[in-house]
Amino acid sequence: MVAMGRPVVIAIDGPAGAGKSTVARKVAERLGLAYVDSGATYRAAALKVLEAGVSPDDAQRVAALVSGAQIEWVAPASPGVAWRVRVDGRDVTTSIRTPEVALAAAKISQLPAVRTKLVALQRQLNVGPGVVMEGRDIGTVVFPDADLKVFLDADPRERARRRRGQDAEEGRASTLEEIASQLERRDQLDAGRAISPLVPAPDAHIIDSTRLSPDQVVEKIIELARERALVERAKDKT
Ligand code: DC
Repeated sequence: MVAMGRPVVIAIDGPAGAGKSTVARKVAERLGLAYVDSGATYRAAALKVLEAGVSPDDAQRVAALVSGAQIEWVAPASPGVAWRVRVDGRDVTTSIRTPEVALAAAKISQLPAVRTKLVALQRQLNVGPGVVMEGRDIGTVVFPDADLKVFLDADPRERARRRRGQDAEEGRASTLEEIASQLERRDQLDAGRAISPLVPAPDAHIIDSTRLSPDQVVEKIIELARERALVERAKDKT
């Protein structure tokens, strides 16, 4: 019965371009839960570093800048809409969606001072009935006791193709080769880092989305949530 009192936590981890955002948002919407993209905080910290003219490779200055930054989550009005992120009082949710910020985020997320601060920020969220949180270390480090852990993967070529589609929608033209090499670089940084590298939690459900549509992946996750009575638990709380 104690379990009924705590928020439902669904962790969706995986490499860049595997479709986590689309899927996590839809699952949150279906279950009436908050949708949180933890990567936004790493990007927000990276934006602060870039705007200060500091190199993302300068560990000492990055650690000092990020430690002093005021990074905050801002709740949206309804479930299934991404939480927004603010740095030093400024909403940066839109300006962090660039390849430069993504690469800088992958670099600065290697640093212990950055991870400690941002992991604490994800844990402090007041998410009401529960949350679908996407990232790299949600099931392994942020919420090791999550009710459901999914590791979403896809073939690198397919991930690059999807990312190109997303870039085009956001008005950026880039070639498949450019994107494939950006993703490969980020994969190496994310999977190769010393602290909380990108690995599936031992109890994560690995879903390969290469040949699945976002809706097919969503159905699989809803089914897993149903098996764990999470759909009922989420409803009880709304
Ligand atoms: O999910 P994203 O592409 O917005 O993430 C940007 C970078 O942030 C990613 O390359 C690594 C880092 N990150 C992380 O280290 N841990 C997370 N939980 C989320 C993102």
